[in-house]
Formats: sequence, C-alpha cells, structure tokens
Amino acid sequence: MKILVTAGPTREPLDPVRFLGNRSSGKMGYAFAEALMAAGHQVVLVSGPVALKSPSRVKVIAVETAREMLAACRREWPGCDGLVAAAAVADWRPAKTARKKLDGSGPRTLSLVPNPDILATLARRKGNRQVVGFALQDRNGEKRALMKLEKKGMDWVILNGLVAQGASSAEVVLLGKDGSREKIGPSPKKILAKALVRRLFPSP
Ligand code: CTP
Repeated sequence: MKILVTAGPTREPLDPVRFLGNRSSGKMGYAFAEALMAAGHQVVLVSGPVALKSPSRVKVIAVETAREMLAACRREWPGCDGLVAAAAVADWRPAKTARKKLDGSGPRTLSLVPNPDILATLARRKGNRQVVGFALQDRNGEKRALMKLEKKGMDWVILNGLVAQGASSAEVVLLGKDGSREKIGPSPKKILAKALVRRLFPSP
C-alpha cells in the first residue's frame, strides 16, 4: 500500500523572520514512515521543519505552513491508500503576514485566524481508505480522543501522553471507531511505531 504520512510542526509566518510554531520534533511521524517502509509499504511523507534525517526511499515533501501542508496532501491523497496524520499543525496563523520585518519595539497585539484541518479535509474524501490520527492526552483523554475520531472522520485515533512531545519513548492507547481499545508501550517511539503499523497496516 502507499501511505500518506504528515509529520512535524508547521510554522506560520508573522513577517520574513518570525513565525508561530510548536515544539513537535516530528519523531513519531518519521518513526511511522520508517516502520511502514520496513513493513513493505510505500510512503509519501509531508513534513514540517524538523531536525531529522529523511528515511531512505521515502518521498519527502518539505512544507512550512499548514496551508502548504494541506496543498501537498491534497495533491498526494488521490494516489494513496491510507493516511497517518502525525503532524502538529498550528491551530491558528497570523491574520496578516508582514512583507517586511516588523519593528520590534513596544507591545503588539496579534490577530489570528484558524488554519484548515488537514486530517478532516482528507477524511471527507476517504472512500474505503484507512485514516489514522493522533490526540494528545489530557483530562478525559479517551473521551475527547473518541469525539475527535468521530468529528474528523478517523478510523483510528492514537492517544498520546503529554510526555510524548519531543521524547523518544511513549505510551499510547489505540482507539478504533469499532469501539476497540488497546494500550501499547511504554516503548521507544520506533518500537511503538512498528507495533502500530503491524496492527493498522499489516504487511502485504
Ligand atoms: N490535525 C490536522 N490539521 C489540523 C489540526 C490537527 O491534520 N489543523 C490532525 C493532527 O495531525 C492529529 C489530529 O488532527 O492527527 C488531532 O490533532 P488536534 O486536533 O490538534 O488534537 P490534539 O493534539 O489532541 O490537541 P488539541 O485538541 O488540544 O488542539
């Protein structure tokens, strides 16, 4: 199968030198891409800016903003058989991006507008393809994750502990739209990704 994977953060520019972003390392998405390749699948990896080596033989499309990520995903989605949305997409972007560097003196109020939801957009055209997303654990983690699964049209949601951000090890709960629930880990992200791929995209 050919699987589309999103990974890493997005950067939303304020001006030519400043951006809004987040602390996503991209490790989970990259580990997923590697595990999918090792299981005999093809991978298209649409990645925000990360400090990670591109997995070998993977088609990597580097993007910066959420809108660029969406555009790249929209181009690739028709040719893919499944989606793993591991990117930490910025929820908002500045309403305006200044063409010249903003004057840094004094206070400033930012106006933000919501970014498109990449996973939900692709899931609307999923057909019988499998769509997998992530959710971050907080209070009522599983309940919120299942609400997200339903709202965004996922088949599976991987519920991540907050400690997962930036760490190499993690524990997840895999929740299916069929009501199934499986705890996986704690293990290094690479092992975790392998276990998830075995479960979600078994070798052809
Ligand atoms: N996602 C996406 N496009 C967005 C926002 C999120 O594709 N604009 C995807 C993410 O890649 C992830 C899933 O949607 O697979 C859930 O992300 P999110 O809604 O941000 O949920 P949480 O990580 O749980 O965080 P929060 O609800 O606190 O924002």
